Amino acid sequence: MKKPPAKRPVDYTATKRHKKRKPSVLREDTTEWAAVQTATRHKYRTPSVAMNRKYAVTTVSDAKKIAKTWLASFKLENAVDFGLPEVDDRYHVWRVPLVKQGSNYRVGELVLDAYNSIVLAEETTKPDVIESRLLGRVESSPAKDGQAKMPEQMQASFVRNTVILGDCEQALLEMPSQSVDLIFTSPPYFNARPEYEDYLTYEEYLLKMRRVIHNCHQVLSEGRFFVMNVSPVLIRRASRGEASKRIAVPFDMHRLFVKEGFDFIDDIHWVKPEGAGWATGRGRRFAADRNPLQYKAVPVTEYVLVYRKHTDKLIDWNIRNHPDQQAVKDSKITGDYETTNLWRIHPAFHAEHPAVFPLELAKRVVRYYSFKNDVVLDPFAGTGTTGRAAASLSRRFILIENEPQYIEIIRREMPSWLGAATKDVLFMGCEAPDTSSVLL
Ligand SMILES: C[S@@+](CC[C@H](N)C(=O)[O-])C[C@H]1O[C@@H](n2cnc3c(N)ncnc32)[C@H](O)[C@@H]1O
Repeated sequence: MKKPPAKRPVDYTATKRHKKRKPSVLREDTTEWAAVQTATRHKYRTPSVAMNRKYAVTTVSDAKKIAKTWLASFKLENAVDFGLPEVDDRYHVWRVPLVKQGSNYRVGELVLDAYNSIVLAEETTKPDVIESRLLGRVESSPAKDGQAKMPEQMQASFVRNTVILGDCEQALLEMPSQSVDLIFTSPPYFNARPEYEDYLTYEEYLLKMRRVIHNCHQVLSEGRFFVMNVSPVLIRRASRGEASKRIAVPFDMHRLFVKEGFDFIDDIHWVKPEGAGWATGRGRRFAADRNPLQYKAVPVTEYVLVYRKHTDKLIDWNIRNHPDQQAVKDSKITGDYETTNLWRIHPAFHAEHPAVFPLELAKRVVRYYSFKNDVVLDPFAGTGTTGRAAASLSRRFILIENEPQYIEIIRREMPSWLGAATKDVLFMGCEAPDTSSVLL
């Protein structure tokens, strides 16, 4: 029986990864979360419903470990104990009763998806409710009509411009809940390049994306937006006799967003100039032979999917209750704007990064979906284009990137787009850049 790896701190100083084939994030990650995941796969001690159903979480102790990690992200792990976790195989979940440390006083319940070990936020007792029960506070009755109480997330976030070197799944767990006002990102491609095979299977890739979306949900304020630039991926054929395969990543991503508590708002199409996709070779065969069935459209669009963190409140509520009404006024979009979901923008290229999105795309998203001084997060930051767009529109930014060489680009280029304010940026897991020249 394989032992789970011991807990080690995230190595933020790791140098260049192996070029040819990167290890799977799921197999190599040595954080406690990953240890729990590994443990759940290998510990089949007793036959049980969980085993028969082929759940990922098969034992009581695994369920407790996951619950402990979840509580730790809210700094509640020392205040809460567990009742006996039970499998509910009608809904394929584990239910872990949460009790006040050293007593039988029940303060809530944590509900886990038994198949993938994700904590189901909608069904789990909210951390602030657990906290107030622990403190013995009287729970407020639901607000009466027209008397909505000022929620926690309506305070302005105190987060300052930050750059983090590390795995965003982990880094997000360290961030205060509801401290972010907009998320804009473009996720890593699933095996888009054979030399960067990060994930063994597409299912592993989706599981990773789901955990990241889940953790993003925690840090995003109620009713605010998560915008994702994503497109289908072409897996090239291995030999002439085989067909290439196209994977509809955006549609699978949509499913994950909905499962993780986001409402679908819009599908914007970023349209590139015609001819942009011809280099991929798609459509050339048909152009030569003109046989039906061989027709393949050359893709010149990418999706910009827009989601809103689920809330029963209208968008108007977010505007009226914004803590800085002057910022709301100053953020009005005057003059021309995009009236349709077709956004025509030239693609961008960076000599040291294979997949940057254009600054213009990031600027539109930031302008349309946030207010001045809001906090904009990009969990897959690459060269930091989102940070650049945010800063140019007087928003704050949090950039997370796990490749040291891309963090190096952000560090090097930042003084040119942020100027003297670079010295106030918090760099975590990496050195702050030398700003002596921009300060003169
Ligand atoms: C499509 S690129 C984003 C490029 C970015 N939009 C830009 O304009 O520069 C995705 C980035 O996610 C990074 N990445 C992949 N997995 C990650 C993870 N688990 N945590 C943080 N960054 C990750 C990759 O190194 C890559 O730079």
